[in-house]
Amino acid sequence: MGEAADGDILLSLRDLHTWFELRRWGIFRVGWVQAVDGVDFQLGRGEAVAVVGESGCGKTTLARTILGLHPPTRGEIRFDGRVLKGAATLRWYRPHVGFVQQDPYGATAPFLSVKRILEEPLLVQGVRDPAERLHRIRTAMERVKLTPIDDFLNKFPHMLSGGQQQRVVIARAKILEPRLIVADEPVSMLDASVRVEILELLRDLQQTSGLSLIYITHDLSTVRFFTERILVMYGGKVVEEAPVRSLLEEPLHPYTRALLAGISDPDPANAHVMREVPPGEPPSLMNPPSGCRFHPRCPSFIRKLCDCQVPPAFMPKPGHRAACWLHRDG
Ligand SMILES: Nc1ncnc2c1ncn2[C@@H]1O[C@H](COP(=O)(O)OP(=O)(O)OP(=O)(O)O)[C@@H](O)[C@H]1O
Ligand SMILES: [Mg+2]
Repeated sequence: MGEAADGDILLSLRDLHTWFELRRWGIFRVGWVQAVDGVDFQLGRGEAVAVVGESGCGKTTLARTILGLHPPTRGEIRFDGRVLKGAATLRWYRPHVGFVQQDPYGATAPFLSVKRILEEPLLVQGVRDPAERLHRIRTAMERVKLTPIDDFLNKFPHMLSGGQQQRVVIARAKILEPRLIVADEPVSMLDASVRVEILELLRDLQQTSGLSLIYITHDLSTVRFFTERILVMYGGKVVEEAPVRSLLEEPLHPYTRALLAGISDPDPANAHVMREVPPGEPPSLMNPPSGCRFHPRCPSFIRKLCDCQVPPAFMPKPGHRAACWLHRDG
């Protein structure tokens, strides 16, 4: 997306770091979890991108930082040209972004009805007229196909199936008409039978409302659904960024190649499914490996370079970046 004109960019992250403090020794901070470490990324208006990576690589932390739920330790988030800094900017920003969490069961208060769950963001935004609130609630329910509406309005979360609960969560994320939705593993806790329906719903909302979408997943088989671009994260960093086709057909980073390897399914349509993770352990984010964080597991390790210098993002093909020393000469 780096090629887009500035006016087409909705969200821009520059050198974003989110570190969690672990320990203090007197006044000194002595332990950090480097969950997001130097992420640069731009998202266009109406664009959908996927963020993929193994468990613990920092996907949720990145999502929560983008949503303004974790303050970045360093770096900058710019939304619609405005740098997010200070309480007033965050107040302006929050209605523009919606969050769809991984766990629909834990995302809503069990003692609130569907109507109350959807009413809450409207009340926080100061929509005083009850008739207008109800109208907007009904419109949102219709958009997520929670129909017949009257059957669902007064139900409580425990009376709904997982798929219906996730529809409530999506309706809540959408009710203030945000310009960006961040969906963090939105189907990983649902039955396989409803996953496709929920992904189709998200795709439909993104395409018909001109929304931008960040879709976070560990399952590459679902990204082709509605994203044009993929970011691969490893150890808190983005190691590869490319259009979906280019990344699946010609992955450039050894980590991405390892994710795509080990495929036993003979059906070429499933050739992009991430079935195996590379051998070895994901890096500790408290004490990450020096140089490239993937070097201890990397089959293409270049001695005296990969283990001591952090690779920048090289761009061997247009729009396809890989943070790997193998590509330093293009
Ligand atoms: N509030 C926190 N305090 C301290 N460490 C945290 C906190 N939140 C996350 N972490 C750590 O940050 C790292 C990244 O976690 P994160 O949840 O962002 O990964 P993830 O890629 O979303 O993983 P998963 O696929 O399992 O959801 C992990 O080591 C995690 O333990
Ligand atoms: Mg997560």
